[in-house]
Amino acid sequence: MLVNLDAVLKPAREEGYAVGAFNVYSLETISAVYRAALECRAPVIFAFGERYIDVANIKVIASMVRTLALDTDIPMVLHLDHCKDIAVIYRAVTAGFTSVMFDGSQLSFDDNLDGSRRVVEFAHSVGVTVEAELGSVPFDAAGAEVPEEYLTRSDEAARFVQATGIDALAVAVGTAHGEYKGKPKIYHDRLGQIASAVPLPLVLHGGSGIPDEDVVKAIGAGIAKINVNTQISSAAVKCMKEITGREKPGALPDIMKEVEDAMMSEVKGFIRLFLANKSM
Ligand code: 13P
Repeated sequence: MLVNLDAVLKPAREEGYAVGAFNVYSLETISAVYRAALECRAPVIFAFGERYIDVANIKVIASMVRTLALDTDIPMVLHLDHCKDIAVIYRAVTAGFTSVMFDGSQLSFDDNLDGSRRVVEFAHSVGVTVEAELGSVPFDAAGAEVPEEYLTRSDEAARFVQATGIDALAVAVGTAHGEYKGKPKIYHDRLGQIASAVPLPLVLHGGSGIPDEDVVKAIGAGIAKINVNTQISSAAVKCMKEITGREKPGALPDIMKEVEDAMMSEVKGFIRLFLANKSM
């Protein structure tokens, strides 16, 4: 079943679990996420980022995900991840995406608000949901601690959500994209303040490498969507290295299948962790 973010995130925030948003950019990544969702019988979000536009054709990605999602009763979202360019948002919606993220996190508060509001106006008119980001979750800066000035402020978050009409808010509470060098410091107090000020589902980016107890605690506080990429990609690369180190690595279709299986088991691990607090 193909749905938008609202359909999967509202129940998640109400019932205290999170839905995984996994980056996809090929048939293997899509199949890995799809098969994991079917095995766990859990909703998933297929997240295609603006940065993958040159890696895979956006229309082909959309038709693959839509074909698979329409073939099951499990709710699935076709979401555009991190997009700064409103023209690409139009392209994604035209291609059949059910949800988009406008990433104005590098803009001033007012410009971020303005851009997010414009995207909401257009997207909502065609039933597409919108995620925006306030504060900044750093890229490739996964050192020990994210400086406090990057974090989302609860007063600003409340104002932003009210003024834009977005459906989900990505928050900066200490996570970073990519591989962490040390144990990440998650600012749980700040997350609690934001969650009290904002009734919407909250989104945690940089989901790879966070200790399980921090993930479960963050979900308990109001995180309803968790984005994961690096750990799935690393599992695939590790598997490829292992295969190519063999005396007879085998033919490409068999190699691709083995890599897909490695990604699928990683995705299943995340889905189960995100559902840890759900009463089944
Ligand atoms: P990681 O690559 O750190 O898992 O983060 C993924 C992400 O947030 C995509 O938006």
